[in-house]
This record gives sequence, C-alpha cells and structure tokens, in this order.
Amino acid sequence: RIYSRIAGTGSYLPSKVLTNDDLSKIVDTSDEWIASRTGIRERHIAAEGETTVDLATHASQRALEAADVSADEIDLIVFGTTTPDLIFPSSACLLQQRLGIAGCGAFDVNAACSGFLYALSVADKFIRCGDAKTVLVVGSETLTRMVDWTERETCVLFGDGAGAVVLKADAETGILSTHLHADGAKKELLWNPVGVSVGFDEHAKNAGVRIRMTGSDVFKYAVKALDSVVEETLEANGLDRHDIDWLIPHQANLRIIEATAKRLDMPMERVVVTVDKHGNTSSGSVPLALDEAVRSGRVQRGQLLLLEAFGGGFTWGSALLRY
Ligand code: ACO
Repeated sequence: RIYSRIAGTGSYLPSKVLTNDDLSKIVDTSDEWIASRTGIRERHIAAEGETTVDLATHASQRALEAADVSADEIDLIVFGTTTPDLIFPSSACLLQQRLGIAGCGAFDVNAACSGFLYALSVADKFIRCGDAKTVLVVGSETLTRMVDWTERETCVLFGDGAGAVVLKADAETGILSTHLHADGAKKELLWNPVGVSVGFDEHAKNAGVRIRMTGSDVFKYAVKALDSVVEETLEANGLDRHDIDWLIPHQANLRIIEATAKRLDMPMERVVVTVDKHGNTSSGSVPLALDEAVRSGRVQRGQLLLLEAFGGGFTWGSALLRY
C-alpha cells in the first residue's frame, strides 16, 4: 500500500502588520470588541502589488527546503485559493513557473476557507492511486483585497498569508483519512456575489468585489459542521477523541476553535492557535498554523494530528494524519 506523508512544511506572511488599534482609526471598533469576539489582535496585509502567488512562492520554497526536495522533483501542484492572481492561468501554473519548473500537472482548488483541506485531500488521492510521488500542496490568499475597509463587521476579521506542504509517497502511514463536505444552499450567508459570468457591478467600489457575511449564522453552522466532521473522522479511524495529539484548526474565530476543542475534550495547550496574530487567512490558515507548530518544535514526528476547516460555500472538511 502507498500512503502520503508530509515531508516538509513552509509558510509566509507579508511584513506589514495591522493591529486592532490601527483598525480602530479606520472604522468604529476597538481592540476590546475584536479580541473578545474573535481572539484576533493583529493580522498581516500584503503590500501593494504583492500577490497570492508571491506569498505562495515564499511558502513553497520554505516547504521544499524543509522536505529536502528540489523543485524539479515535484510531479503535481495543487493550490487552494479563492483569491487567485488572475482569472486564468491558475495560480498553480503561475507558481510552477516561479519555481522554475515545467511539465507537471498544476491546478487550483477553490473551496474558500476549506481550500487547503480540499487541496490536501486531492493530493493524497493522487499519491495513493500511484499517479504522483511528490506533490506540492499550497494554501495562499490575499483576502484583504476583497475586504470593504468601511464595513466593520467584516474588515476586522481577515488577513493575508500562505502555507505549503510537500507530500511524498511512502510505505509508512501518513495521511490516514480526509473528509470533505459542502452545502451550496447556504451560499448567501458567506459569499462574494460577483464574477465573470454573472457580471461585476461597475458602479460599486472595487467593482462589487466584497465579502458579504451573516456572521452569527456562519458561526452557528461552522460549530455544528465541525463537530460533525470531527466525529466522522474519529469514527472512520476507530479512534477515541483522546487519541489525538494536536488539533490544527482553521483560524477564523477563537470561540469556534474552543468549541471544537471542547467537543474533543482537548485542553487548549494541545490546540494550535494563530488567529490572534494572523486573523482569518482563509486557505492559508491551516498550513500556516501547521508550519508554525512544526517549526516551534511543538508538533513532533509520529504524532497524530487532526486538521479541520470551514468556509464559504459552505464547505468544510478534515484530515487525520500521522506527522
Ligand atoms: N466593532 C465594534 N462593533 C461591532 C463590530 C466591530 N468590528 N462589528 C459588529 N459590531 C457590532 C454590531 O453592529 C452589533 O451592534 P448592535 O448590537 O448595536 O446591532 C454588535 O456589534 C454585535 O454584532 P454581532 O454580529 O451580533 O456580533 P457577534 O457576537 O455575532 O460577533 C462575529 C460577530 C465576530 C463576526 C461572529 O459572528 C463570528 O465570528 N462569526 C463567524 C464568522 C466567521 O468566522 N467567518 C469566517 C468563517 S468562514 C471563513 O473563514 C471565510
């Protein structure tokens, strides 16, 4: 049997930091409101001209280095993003060129904030069926480009960033299972309702490109969906909730993360939290949190990790893996 294992991780954050106090000068908000409702204290913002693929290139180079893999060994790139540089070519194709390689398959996956989990699941399947041996999996976003900086309900939540992993075929168990779900009927609770086919709004700011969200409904659905996918993952692997060493959740809101940790009866010391420093970086959030936990020495080889995410669509998913 062939499994896929994470051979190396990498991440990248733009250098500019925007604190809650900075935001309180732009909209009617406060550090106290944002921190107590979301756990967020600051977020990184891409510089003018700095794109999703720029962030992804840095993160990928770091992941390749950590895996001791050279770019020309990559035989597939799967790129989770909902903020691609261009409509086409895909960000995966642009990244391929930046890495100085050509020929391998490369494509994007858009599952909003679940983008990295979806990308990881697809990459795992390619390796398990023998079609690929070394896959670069990326989650990268410049979500702040979609933010309306006059709307305090949403602009305080998001940040920019990227993470990447190199997955390699291995005879040893790595990724044990992945579980993906979606419910398109809830699309209007969290969406950006303009595009090439339906059209843009030429009279609106940013041509109508703007995150729209009914926050309290998203919160409720997220907690419920994550509870159910966590249960599903444990059941599929015949595990007890106490078997998990680390929970590495999507970083949207500390209260959502705490609800999932409670469900797993997991102390917060075993939950990787970066939302305070990164805000919600959508597809970037899980691989950023994973890389931070690996590089700080918290996550060790052989430990059992549960990754999960929830996002627009709705989409949600999980991955259970032995690191
Ligand atoms: N600063 C100050 N006050 C604010 C702000 C702000 N930034 N934003 C909203 N308020 C006000 C509202 O106007 C409202 O005022 P009112 O009572 O006078 O009408 C009050 O605060 C409460 O607003 P609520 O929306 O009820 O606040 P809530 O406790 O639900 O928190 C939040 C809002 C943080 C958005 C929460 O609902 C949430 O986190 N939801 C999940 C959102 C999320 O995680 N989305 C992303 C997940 S999916 C993905 O990652 C894309």
